[in-house]
Amino acid sequence: MQNSHDDRPEPYRRGVSRRGLLAGGTAAAASLVATASGGRAEAEAGAVPYGKAVEPFHGPHQAGIATTPQTYAVFLGLDLREGTDREALVRLMRLLTDDARRLVEGRPALADTEPELAVLPAKLTITYGFGPGFFAAAKLDHQRPESLRALPPFKIDKLEKRWSGGDLLVQICCDDGVTLSHALRMIVKDVRSFASVRWTQRGFRRSPQVEAPGLTQRNLMGQLDGTVNPKPGTPDFARAIWVSEGPEWLRGGTTLVLRRIRMELETWDAVDRVAKEFSVGRRLDTGAPLTGRAELDPPDFTRLNSLGFPVISEFSHVRRAHVADAGMRIFRRAYNYDEGLTAGGRSDVGLLFASYQADIDRQFVPIQRRLAEVDLLNEWTTPIGSAVFAIPPGCSPSGWIGDTLLS
Ligand code: HEM
Repeated sequence: MQNSHDDRPEPYRRGVSRRGLLAGGTAAAASLVATASGGRAEAEAGAVPYGKAVEPFHGPHQAGIATTPQTYAVFLGLDLREGTDREALVRLMRLLTDDARRLVEGRPALADTEPELAVLPAKLTITYGFGPGFFAAAKLDHQRPESLRALPPFKIDKLEKRWSGGDLLVQICCDDGVTLSHALRMIVKDVRSFASVRWTQRGFRRSPQVEAPGLTQRNLMGQLDGTVNPKPGTPDFARAIWVSEGPEWLRGGTTLVLRRIRMELETWDAVDRVAKEFSVGRRLDTGAPLTGRAELDPPDFTRLNSLGFPVISEFSHVRRAHVADAGMRIFRRAYNYDEGLTAGGRSDVGLLFASYQADIDRQFVPIQRRLAEVDLLNEWTTPIGSAVFAIPPGCSPSGWIGDTLLS
C-alpha cells in the first residue's frame, strides 16, 4: 500500500468520476457553443474543478512548500544586474508579489498580453527565494542567515555552472503546463530590467488525474520516493521546516537547497532487482523496508540475516540518510526531470531534488555529507547542479514577499 495522506485539498478529496468527466465534457462543448454565440464568458468555458482550483496566496508561509506537489514545476535562477540596489529590489519584489497574487487567483498579470491564459490557475503557486548575492546587492549581508552560502564541496559532486548558484529564485508549480508556461513568461518579462536568467529547470510528477495526490510517487529509477518525509501540518513539520530562530525577518520562512541529480539509467538498467533494492534498503514494488511488509512499516536497522549481516545494509541509502529526530529532518519535494535523449540515445534524466529545512547547516549538510561518504546509490546518481535560497515568509493582502527584510 502506498502512503496515503488524508489532508488532500479540494477538489481532489472529492475525486472526479469518469462519468462526471464525461458529463463535464458535454457541458464544456455546450458552453463553447454558448460562447461562440456571445453567451457565457470565455473564461468559464469548459472549466472543470481541477482547472479552477486555487491555492491561497496570503498567509504566514509562502505557498508551494507545504502545498501537495502539483504536476509541473519550473525553478528559475536569476542573477541580479549591476546596480540593482535595495531600492530597486523593493520595486521588483512589489511587482513580483503583484504578479503572483493575481496569477494564482486566475487573474491576468498587469499588462498581460494573453489574459485568457491566466483564467485556469490549476493550483498555481509562485514562490520566491533569495540567494546569497541578493543580500550583497541589498547591502544587507548582516541579515543573511549564517548557513546560506554555497554548500561545501562533496566528493560525489560534478557540478556544472549552468545549473548552479543564483541571486533570486522563482519557483512555479501548477497542475497545468499551459498556465505554468504563461506564469513563467509574465514573471520573466517583469524581471528583465532587474535580472538576467541564469538557469531554468523544469520538472514533473504524476498528475492528480492519473494518481491520487498525496500518495508517494515513483521517481524515474522506479522507486517510491518520499516515504519518510515530514508531514505538512504536523508539529514535526513546523519544527523542521519553518524558521523560528536566527534573523527575525525570516521567521515563518524556510530555506531551499536545490540539487540537480542525474540518474545513470543505462547502468541502473543493467542491475538486477535484488541489488537495486539492496542499494536503497527498500523494496521496489511496495516501497516497504527490506525488514517489513508495507511502505509505512518502520525499518528495523538491527535485524540480521542468516549469515549475520544486517538485512538493511549499513551502506544503503535509507540507512545513511536516516535522521532519528523527526523535527530535524529535511522536507523533500522532488520533481523528475527529463531532457530527452542524447545523440547516442542515452537518457538525460534525473531528479530536481528540492530540500526545504529551517537550517541548511544543521539539517541538509550532515545528511549530504554522510551520503557523499558512503551510499550504494551513488553508483547511479550524480549531483550536477546546486543552489541555495532563503525563502521569506508569506505576506498579508497589503504586504509583499520580502517586506520583512527590505522595508
Ligand atoms: C537521485 C537521487 C536520489 C534518489 C533516487 C533517492 C531515492 C530515495 C528513495 C527511494 C528513498 C526511500 C523512500 C523514502 O523514504 O523516500 C529515499 C529516502 C531518503 N532520501 Fe533519497 N534519493 C536521492 C537523493 C537524496 C539526497 C541528495 C538526499 C539528501 C541529501 C536524500 C535524502 C533522503 C532521506 C532523508 C530519505 C529518508 C531516509 C529515512 O528512511 O529516514 N536523498 N531516497
